Amino acid sequence: MKPFVIALDGPSAAGKGTLARRLAAHYGLAHLDTGSLYRAVGRRILREGHDPADATYAATVAQNLQPVDLQDPELRTEATSKASSIVAAIPAVRANLLAWQREFARHPPEGKHGAVLDGRDIGTVICPDADVKLFVTASLEARAGRRFRELQAAGANPIRRAVLEEMASRDRRDSERATAPLLPAPDAFVLDTSELDADTVFDRVVAFIDSKTRSRRA
Ligand code: DC
Repeated sequence: MKPFVIALDGPSAAGKGTLARRLAAHYGLAHLDTGSLYRAVGRRILREGHDPADATYAATVAQNLQPVDLQDPELRTEATSKASSIVAAIPAVRANLLAWQREFARHPPEGKHGAVLDGRDIGTVICPDADVKLFVTASLEARAGRRFRELQAAGANPIRRAVLEEMASRDRRDSERATAPLLPAPDAFVLDTSELDADTVFDRVVAFIDSKTRSRRA
């Protein structure tokens, strides 16, 4: 049977990660955080002392990515975030990560009957035939505020203005790149979470998915 695939796209700190994990648990699906692949590429390049903008080197790292790279404790730092959005604009990096993501969607691990993939281009490029496409977004201010509080909770001493500016330049890199820019698929359910808490987002998305799958079964 064809696996049930949920494509979940949106900018950083829009609430995709939490939502993807909750959807996967609710529907018994596997979950792939595709941003962690780009983060792992960016982090390994920094660790090896190379420039993330070096397309040839970045493409080789993407091709040889190892499961252990996804366990790096520095995957979520600001330096890795920046490096990941630089490598994500390199077409050969994206091409080298594409087959692996599609394979995950076609053959979800652990015998699961489907998968949730979250990222930027899941509904448009990786899984254009996904059963459900979601695009979760929020204003720059709301997202920067969330990231600021996350950093504070993690014991860092962030500067609010710097967090906002870094997020704005990451948005620009993700949205303006030529290959697979951040875009809602034409058939995506778009939800602005600026004023919504995580429970409300989850309830609205589940209601949408259930109504869509019900009408398909009818
Ligand atoms: O979702 P995230 O913040 O962990 O993603 C890290 C970077 O990877 C982000 O700058 C955009 C990029 N990315 C991408 O280009 N395509 C994806 N499917 C997922 C992430």
